Amino acid sequence: MISTLLSRAGGADGDPAPRLVYGADYNPEQWPRAVWEEDVRLMREAGVNLVSVGIFSWARLQPAEDTWDFAWLDEVMDLLHEGGVGVDLATATASPPPWLTTAHPEILPVTATGETLWPGARQHWRPTSPVFRRYALRLVRALATRYAGHPALVAWHVNNELGCHNVYDYSDDAARAFRDWLRARYSTVDALNSAWGTAFWSQRYTDWEQILPPRLAASHPNPTQQLDFKRFSSDALKDHLRAEREVLRELTPDIPVTTNFMVMGGTRGMNYPDWADEIDFVSNDHYVHPGPQDRDELSFSANLTSGISGGRPWFLMEHSTSAVNWQPVNVAKRPGDLVRDSLLHVAHGADAVCFFQWRQSAAGAEKYHSAMVPHAGADSELFRAVAGLGATLESLAPLAGSEREPARVGILYDWESWWASEQDSHPTSLLDYRQEALDWYSALLALGIRADLVTTRADLHRHQVLIAPVLHVVPADLAKTLTRYAEQGGHLITTYFSGVVDEHDHVWLGGYPGALRDLLGIHIEEFGPLLPGDSVELDDATTGTLWTDRITVTDSGTEVLARYRTGEQSGRPAVTRRPAGGGSAAYVSTRLGVEGLTSLLPRLLEPAGVESELPAEARGSVEPVVRRGAGGRFLFLVNRTDDTVQVPGLGGDVLVGATGADGTLTLGPRAVAVLRQPVA
Ligand code: GAL
Repeated sequence: MISTLLSRAGGADGDPAPRLVYGADYNPEQWPRAVWEEDVRLMREAGVNLVSVGIFSWARLQPAEDTWDFAWLDEVMDLLHEGGVGVDLATATASPPPWLTTAHPEILPVTATGETLWPGARQHWRPTSPVFRRYALRLVRALATRYAGHPALVAWHVNNELGCHNVYDYSDDAARAFRDWLRARYSTVDALNSAWGTAFWSQRYTDWEQILPPRLAASHPNPTQQLDFKRFSSDALKDHLRAEREVLRELTPDIPVTTNFMVMGGTRGMNYPDWADEIDFVSNDHYVHPGPQDRDELSFSANLTSGISGGRPWFLMEHSTSAVNWQPVNVAKRPGDLVRDSLLHVAHGADAVCFFQWRQSAAGAEKYHSAMVPHAGADSELFRAVAGLGATLESLAPLAGSEREPARVGILYDWESWWASEQDSHPTSLLDYRQEALDWYSALLALGIRADLVTTRADLHRHQVLIAPVLHVVPADLAKTLTRYAEQGGHLITTYFSGVVDEHDHVWLGGYPGALRDLLGIHIEEFGPLLPGDSVELDDATTGTLWTDRITVTDSGTEVLARYRTGEQSGRPAVTRRPAGGGSAAYVSTRLGVEGLTSLLPRLLEPAGVESELPAEARGSVEPVVRRGAGGRFLFLVNRTDDTVQVPGLGGDVLVGATGADGTLTLGPRAVAVLRQPVA
């Protein structure tokens, strides 16, 4: 789908063959007309074949309620088309114009403490405002009517990063919509009372109208109310996405629709696995947060995006050529980072590599955010690197459309558990769901073992090993699925605070880990969270932090793989494994961190016989990723280090990189090689 988008626009050279997309957000309204032609010329020079236009153009397109100005956009679309650059046209609804917020201040979002988020930045709209919806859809209709049939138009870009700044709105509109959502979920107030456990703290409702979003309260708001508000808020934005999409499908049924997700860092408000079916292809934005695991995090996010996309190729809608503007310190990328970051996304299934943005702004909050054309202009190292990347992506055209080859290990990433495990009034407030999952991922990278991030919607049986870190919310049917998974030969590994609650955030009674207790063959009477700075030693020489459990083994088959050597649980099991049917179920009761997991994992993977596919010299320093399609099997070797790494010959044609006479690949610091091997 993505690799053939460009055939609609004819591609930069009129060639309709599948290729990777290369481009950026393009904001021509920030520049005089004279710059536009230079832009198109430079785009061609850089190999750019698609740009996203109009993302923040509402105020320009509709200067007043009944005044429209499309002339400038007509010209931009025509120019781009003449230059062979396709357009992913935004619906422009991300940032309502001042005339609208002045006439209708009731569209502005309200925080949990009752403060209004005023105009002056962007995304100041309530996802549930009927007034905003009416104006937004009018704009979408006007754009789709105008540009239906324009030869440059290859895709629609709904809004922008839905929920980036406005996912949680506590306004009266939100309260009304929340009640409707709850009515649809529970049908009766009694059912809601039971799901929310309102017998506690005298919270029993007798009428829907009494129910509010979890606004600032005297103490911890009801946990199920909080969890449902998270579910509702994600659904409210999804509903907006659908509403825009419906207008687009009505007017331009042949143009695919996407919207840019934010699978990165701590962005957790939108349940993307649940949104993915609403669009024609998944798009993601990703920005590096500098730190010790920063590129592992990039790989993790790209991998998870692929999982959300069901393994199908996806579209990298935004990343940065160098520094951003919104971190406390905005560091520039080092030589090699631009290409490595881009190709890591491609390795994990991106068929498009796009940036925010094409030309670095001279004014506004993002003027210090890097772009493809920097303030210094095209005669710059950065622009030369950008053009070099364009050429590299062209040479990777044969892999366009290929899918990621499934790995033997899956890591289950579950939004419900993410939301619920980090709520307040828990045994610890220090639990970080994503960090725990990322640590398992980093440990696998350190061992040179490929893994796939998967969601509960995936067919879990594809993986011989399934790691489910902090799988906190386990409804009865998920418990059954996991039991079946193990009994049919899968090897499940889970951790502390898993299996504890059902979908209503009610504890499974009878001892932890609740829904997974029998499968794991253990019983926990009390959690043993650790204070910050405290740690415990295990008898396999690893160290645990954050959490311990008082475990009793309840099944004669359950093996103890490691015991606590120090601390309150000293002498008790810390890591266990129970054979179950053809497979097994293992439990890790503490936070071992990357180092501890790297040392433990080979023992956990042993029953499945999973080992690194890399030669010993490359393990740890090289990340292997595989895509497979009609054009072959594409092996990406990504140097994770700042040193040069030699990889003995692995066979295949070298699409990116260079081999010596003996076939050894030399990967410079942060370099990437891509080999095309015949499909077995
Ligand atoms: C994204 C956004 C872009 C730009 C970028 C800067 O969140 O979609 O418009 O602001 O961040 O990194």
